[in-house]
Amino acid sequence: MAAGHGTRMRSSLPKVLHPVCGKPMIEWIVDAAHEAGAGRIVCITRPGTGVAERLPDGVEVAEQREGEGTGAALLAARELVEPGATVVVLSGDHPLVSPQLISGLAETHAREGAVATLLTTTELDPTGYGRVVRGPDGSVERIVETKHPEGVPPEVLAIREINIGAYAFAADELYAALDQVAETRGERYLTAVFPILRERGGKIAAYPTDDVSCAMGVNSRADLMDVERVARERLIREHARNGVTFTAPGTVVIEPGVEIGQDATIEAGVTLRGATRIGAGATIGPHTTLIDARIGDGATVLHAYAVEAEVGPNASIGPFAYLRPGTVVGEGAKVGTYVEVKNSTIGAGTKVPHLSYIGDADVGEGTNIGAGNITANYDGRRKHRTVIGNNVKTGVDTSFVAPVTVGDGAYTGAGSVITQDVPPGALGIARERQRNIEGYAERVEKRS
Ligand code: UD1
Ligand code: MG
Repeated sequence: MAAGHGTRMRSSLPKVLHPVCGKPMIEWIVDAAHEAGAGRIVCITRPGTGVAERLPDGVEVAEQREGEGTGAALLAARELVEPGATVVVLSGDHPLVSPQLISGLAETHAREGAVATLLTTTELDPTGYGRVVRGPDGSVERIVETKHPEGVPPEVLAIREINIGAYAFAADELYAALDQVAETRGERYLTAVFPILRERGGKIAAYPTDDVSCAMGVNSRADLMDVERVARERLIREHARNGVTFTAPGTVVIEPGVEIGQDATIEAGVTLRGATRIGAGATIGPHTTLIDARIGDGATVLHAYAVEAEVGPNASIGPFAYLRPGTVVGEGAKVGTYVEVKNSTIGAGTKVPHLSYIGDADVGEGTNIGAGNITANYDGRRKHRTVIGNNVKTGVDTSFVAPVTVGDGAYTGAGSVITQDVPPGALGIARERQRNIEGYAERVEKRS
């Protein structure tokens, strides 16, 4: 595959490393090739672009150090291609080529006993593309480039069938032919090999498709947006086919690594990234972001932001909750409004309903955390854990100065700053006793 040059992206990031649905463009093609059963994958890139360093594991690199054009690019990979091999050529800036198209291309190539097979379509505006010229018997004769249409005969410009730029080749024949390709406008055109191959008695097959998304090339941010939209729609449709409801699919951002169970509902404004996994029957959103999060069956997560957090079955998160890495929320538990949880376990059936920060804590099962509870987990140098047992009831505005432990079934008084362990079943109360000053208001009145 050729990794792209000549770009109008206006970016410090190489074009093929720009993400589409969170995954770098080049990885879409590498993954599709893998899925289609590619044995080896070679990426052709210009030296010093930074692409080679950022390729996925197992992808070999060929540097195009000299020459211009798609033919010159292929020549750069010559040393890496085994004699007798079949090579499939894809463009690094056409990220939507599907595994089905790649394997279809390779299968057609083998079935037809061709030396070259190219992917074509008649479903696009052919302006600027290489036109497929077929002979009287319907076989492919040559490709005529129309980027510069001056001098191209009108009958060729009338051809609708275009070369998408994905091919299968018999490697030996390809390289022998490339050696004979002369430069046009300073470029060596890969497509110039077809007449040479044909002259030598080779068969050129075409594999027509109406899946035009594979022809979507990225040369600008506008193209990137178009590709992103199609990729996203494709992912959402796949989940929908598997039984997921999207109430506002146009507002959902989703990455390819995300898994969603049957009968889950994804509401408006949801972003699902990384390796996020959502259980069956869960409801996500509206307006929720999940990054590498795991959500159990039947759980509800609304107006929430969760990163590397795990939520148990039938748990309820939000609205307006922030689950940070290392959070584990048990079955049927609740993390409610304006609650932040970090590196903590919230046991099954436990409720943290309002305005709390729970950090570096282990909270048992069936416990109720009062409104506005805070774990003071940081002493300015180190973090410490708070341990709260099962069936505990903490009063509103309790602070836990870690390290501290509250036993099973214990209570804390409202407004307490708990600095010492509370034994099981006890009431921990740590606050100034209230004193009422009788007649105060009257005395103040008199003074003024
Ligand atoms: C090419 C085809 C054209 C086809 C079109 C489909 C040729 C001569 N023409 O034209 O028939 O209709 O694709 O999109 O091949 N590349 C390199 N090194 C180079 C030049 C190109 O790696 O020196 C890479 C590009 O980055 C790109 C791919 O090869 O990934 C195709 O090159 P591009 O310049 O886009 O070819 P087109 O003019 O679009
Ligand atoms: Mg192009």
